[in-house]
Amino acid sequence: MPRTILVTSALPYANGDIHLGHLVGYIQADIWVRYQRMRGATVHYVCADDTHGTPIMLRAEKEGITPEALIARVHGEHLRDFSSFGVAFDNYHSTHSSENKAYAEDIYARLKASGFIDTRAIEQYYDPVKQMFLPDRFIKGECPKCGAADQYGDNCEVCGAAYAPTELKNPYSAVSGAQPVLKTSEHFFFRLSDPRAVEFLREWTRGSNAAGTRRLQLEAANKMREWLGDEGENKLSDWDISRDAPYFGFEIPDAPGKYFYVWLDAPIGYLASFRNLAERISGIDVLDFTDANRVESSGIDMVHFIGKDILYFHALFWPAMLHFAGYRTPSQLCVNGFLTVDGAKMSKSRGTFITAQSYVDQGLNTEWLRYYFASKSNGTMEDIDLNLDDMIAKVNSDLVGKYINIASRCAGFITKRFESRLGQTDIQACSEFSAALETGGIAQAYDERDYARALREIMRLADLANQYVNDNKPWELAKQQDASERLHVVCSTALTFFRDLTRLLKPVLPALSAQVEAFLRVPAFDWPTSWSPLPAGHEIANYQHLMTRIERKQVDALLEANRASLAPANDEEAGSKVASSQQRHSQHQAHAAETEAAQTLDLEPTISIDEFTKIDLRIARIVAAEHVEGAAKLIRLSLDIGEAAPRQVFAGIKSAYDPAALVGRMTVMVANLAPRKMKFGMSEGMVLAASDGTGATPGLFILSPDVGATPGMRVK
Ligand code: 2FM
Ligand code: ZN
Repeated sequence: MPRTILVTSALPYANGDIHLGHLVGYIQADIWVRYQRMRGATVHYVCADDTHGTPIMLRAEKEGITPEALIARVHGEHLRDFSSFGVAFDNYHSTHSSENKAYAEDIYARLKASGFIDTRAIEQYYDPVKQMFLPDRFIKGECPKCGAADQYGDNCEVCGAAYAPTELKNPYSAVSGAQPVLKTSEHFFFRLSDPRAVEFLREWTRGSNAAGTRRLQLEAANKMREWLGDEGENKLSDWDISRDAPYFGFEIPDAPGKYFYVWLDAPIGYLASFRNLAERISGIDVLDFTDANRVESSGIDMVHFIGKDILYFHALFWPAMLHFAGYRTPSQLCVNGFLTVDGAKMSKSRGTFITAQSYVDQGLNTEWLRYYFASKSNGTMEDIDLNLDDMIAKVNSDLVGKYINIASRCAGFITKRFESRLGQTDIQACSEFSAALETGGIAQAYDERDYARALREIMRLADLANQYVNDNKPWELAKQQDASERLHVVCSTALTFFRDLTRLLKPVLPALSAQVEAFLRVPAFDWPTSWSPLPAGHEIANYQHLMTRIERKQVDALLEANRASLAPANDEEAGSKVASSQQRHSQHQAHAAETEAAQTLDLEPTISIDEFTKIDLRIARIVAAEHVEGAAKLIRLSLDIGEAAPRQVFAGIKSAYDPAALVGRMTVMVANLAPRKMKFGMSEGMVLAASDGTGATPGLFILSPDVGATPGMRVK
């Protein structure tokens, strides 16, 4: 039975740019959607902008425009960014929509009717000048623990203490600068502490989707146990779901001046986006997707892709809200971790806070990133590291060197020698290849979102295909008088392998796959039940180059384009709405890290001694040194480290050294760095040099050991 699935991705706030950290989750979701569709599932993939709340209201005010104008502009920018990265929603809607209002009101009314809404008076800081209640992030003052000035209302960036805004000394409003006053107001609460809610959530945690996959990843289920406590315990508190005017959001029915808190209507936006879509396509009964009483019979799944910082909202409030309002609950949460870049938090000063738009503007291929993110995604909540050198190496070696290489080595012969028509295929080789393909578990890996495993298997198949080409050497067959038929078979077989690899990669590389479909003149690839070869006589188009290699300089230009000044971006901090205590925490850490970088050293993240010892440093004697013709920065060094022959290393030290002065000197080299092919020859290592990073002269100093050290000694 083909599945029907409503898939959602987390709704980004309508006041910030999409950056690579966001894209991890969206790309993971998009790959899964594409895979499920190839398997014949009906998938509706929806998203929207998360548009409500104080920060968006204030941002619009600061820009001198209405919130409606702000969210309209950002909607266009977000949609542009997602489509650049091949993230193809069926609908990209807005939480500021009539559908969302209707759902929010309905859910609220039903919760109220079933006794899940409470009213309570609470005391909060109020800005008497701006005449508004202040969210914690908009109150600043001195830390009650260490006295540091200008700390936010929830925790201190200097000493790390967490506290209530009322504990701050000399508090002031970050909006107007005024001293806030305590003021009481009535708030509405969702009664999450009701024993029925806890009982329901325990049961929900244990559930699975219609295909039998467990609802929550192991780590998420563990978190739930932590939040819910042991059987008989009740650790949940009621949830404040209202905010007072002025607020950009939906006014609560029969409660003038009270608005739904942004996090109440945000996830409801999933349903609103779907409903908006359903109105445009025929044959959909929305109730099959939303009504609790129809879930059993419809067998439809609702799957949310989210980041781990918003698990709390999606695994506690959201299912409980839906359940007690008579709506169906999510069948599955797919939770991803955070993104680090080169092992550290994304940082504006390092240029690693990379926006989606800058990546596109710099001319980088968005499918490089899709491939790299996929190769690091294993379906768990672990953080993902974007290691830039590793990305370059992986894309160049896997995609260009292995996969594309198969087509580029064989396609030309078909065009030139066989009038673009394929011949017979090698039965033996094809059956071996499909046997390897079918036993590789690639489909299952995709289904489990273990794309890393899927890609490893696919690259293993690419190795087999390359081995076949290497063994049969079409370029040599082409030179032999009587080998034409064999050449035809070999190239047709290799192109069949290439077709199959493309099919397997299609969820990850949709744009490239479309190019291959055009090149092979075949209908859009699905996931076949049997992997039969391309038929003899089939005509293909001329081969066009499919993908270029990434150059380090392109990545450097990207970092440069994203490098911002170290001036603390207060308005941006305040502008990013606080999602949860974890997110709040990470924002603080990021901010603290940036501030520190300005004062002290911008150190790389800590490594273990084991990681350090992976670097094999050796004493080297410079036995020869010379200028390299045509290279502005390089000197060619011959380094003796006690091996049979000296190593050739190209060092970028020309600005600081005369080659003649280097000969005979001892220095330190990295002896196990992967050899790198450069324009001028192989570089077989690297010499260590200190630099002040300014590029000024003299700003570069190669290292020397103390007298007595001899070539080949290990440096530890
Ligand atoms: O954390 C965030 O960026 C929120 N805008 C996510 C909302 S997801 C869903 F609940 F709407
Ligand atoms: Zn402090």
